[in-house]
Order: sequence, then C-alpha cells, then structure tokens
Amino acid sequence: MQHLMSPLDLSVEELDKLLTLANDIEKHPQKYAHACEGKKLATCFYEPSTRTRLSFEAAMLNLGGNVLGFSSADSSSASKGESVSDTIRVISCYADICAMRHPKEGAPLVASQRSGIPVINAGDGGHQHPTQTLTDLLTIRSLKGRLDHLTIGLCGDLKFGRTVHSLIHALIRYPHIKFILISPEELRVPSYIREDVLEKNHVPFQEVERLEDAMADLDILYMTRVQRERFFNEDDYVRMKDFYILNKKKMALAREDMIVMHPLPRVNEISVDVDDDPRAAYFKQAQYGVYVRMALILTLLEVTVC
Ligand code: NCD
Repeated sequence: MQHLMSPLDLSVEELDKLLTLANDIEKHPQKYAHACEGKKLATCFYEPSTRTRLSFEAAMLNLGGNVLGFSSADSSSASKGESVSDTIRVISCYADICAMRHPKEGAPLVASQRSGIPVINAGDGGHQHPTQTLTDLLTIRSLKGRLDHLTIGLCGDLKFGRTVHSLIHALIRYPHIKFILISPEELRVPSYIREDVLEKNHVPFQEVERLEDAMADLDILYMTRVQRERFFNEDDYVRMKDFYILNKKKMALAREDMIVMHPLPRVNEISVDVDDDPRAAYFKQAQYGVYVRMALILTLLEVTVC
C-alpha cells in the first residue's frame, strides 16, 4: 500500500504519469465520473483549510465516490485526547483512503504506520505539503510546457511556508532549475533546506531581500503568505506581514511570459489589481488542484480507467 507523505515518495516517472493522468481528467472528465463508485475518502483535518479539504472532497465526488470526515480538531476525538494512531485505525474501518492535515510535523507519517488504508499528507505543520506541490507542478507544466530550465522566485515566508519546502524538494530533480529566494532575513528558508537540499545537490540559488531585484529574471514568481499561526509572538508577525506586496508597478518589471503563482489563501501579498493581469495564475492553480487530487486518488487506490 502506498501513502503520500512527501513529493519524493513519487519518482520523476511516477510523477510524470500522474500529471499526464491529471491532464487527461481535465480534458475528459466524463470518462472518470464513475471510477470510484462505492469508495469513500475520509478528510481528517486538525487544522483550518478551504482549498485543500474542499478540493479533495470535490475530487472524490467528481470520481463518483463519497466523502466523510472532520474539519477541526475540536470536532474530533482529538479533543478528548485520542492519538492519531488510534484515530486512523478506526477510520481505516470506515473509508478506503484518508487525507490528513495536522499542525504537528510528522503526524500523518505516524498515522500512515498504523493505517490499513492509504494516507495522504495534506499539510503537516511547517514541514511538507505534497499535494500542493503536485498542484504546483501540474500548473507549471500546463502553463509553461516544461518542468526544467526554469528560474523560480520563491517570495515571502520561506521559513514556515511548507508549500515552498515541498516545491523545492520536488523541483530540484529536474535539469537546469534555478531558485531566487526572496525573503526578509528572519524568514529565510531553514538551513536544512539550504544546506542539505540545495547546496548538497548543487542547485544554483540566490537569496535576496528586494522583490524588485529579482523580477526581471523570473519565469515563475511563487508568492506566499506570512504564516501567522506558526509565529511565537504576534509583534513579529505584524512587523513581517506586509513586507511584500506585489502590485501592478512591480509586475511591470517582469517578463511578458512570467507567471505568478500562490498556493492561497492570500492576505495582502498580492494586490487585487494584479488579478486581471494575464500572468496571474493563482486561481487557475486552485482548479488544477482538483484534477491532480483526482489523479492521486485513482493512483493510490490503484483504479485504472480505460
Ligand atoms: C497553504 C498551506 O496550507 O500550507 N494553503 C493551501 O493548502 N493551499 C498555504 C498557506 O496556508 O499559506
């Protein structure tokens, strides 16, 4: 049985197959409308979510399956002190596959070790968010036509932003990838990513503080929200929260074919006047999230559609 804890759980070939399946689902949704009839997805969310949980649920419903679950720790037996290991053993009796989000790094991994059904990490603390990465890769491949030969600017909260951590892990496997890491000093990528992932694999990267200094070089600008819930004190968050605001003026510095991505939710880091720019890809990205999660559910449940 296969689980998904990190984007690296899939080889480049498996990933390629999954993205191709997602593109086929986008083109021929009817073909897949009954593929998971009689199957159930459990969404176990111990942390808030809009897109990830609802796109998982939409994905299963689009496949003809059913969904059950909870959307906060308060509404589950976690509030009574139940461990994730016990919860997943029970959920394994009720559902065929589970998507789990948890504020503690590693909690979905612990669950997967006790689970009788495939477990998907839907975000664990400030660690990883592999299905957002699948969404991001599908968006990049669909809109740019490739996953190699790209200069990617990652901007904002690179310290706590799990989407950034997972995306870096996934993209370094493709040739000629270069990162420009745009963050204030306090929100730089964790040193384990800088040293053990980027430097160790000889991936070129630059760290800059000003967005304006990077704009002209980018194929992709990946904006992120300052992760308020991971700060130890509110004053630090308030000082950091509006550090970057992408607006029309800054967009004028970028290439015509650059795309702007954001895992969403956005707070202030992209001004709404950028939404109508043809290079703004973040709402399309949310749509790709449904196709790729459909492809992932089919893959983990080993359902094939001819
Ligand atoms: C992201 C997350 O939960 O890490 N959201 C999402 O899943 N689309 C990004 C964020 O919350 O900032």
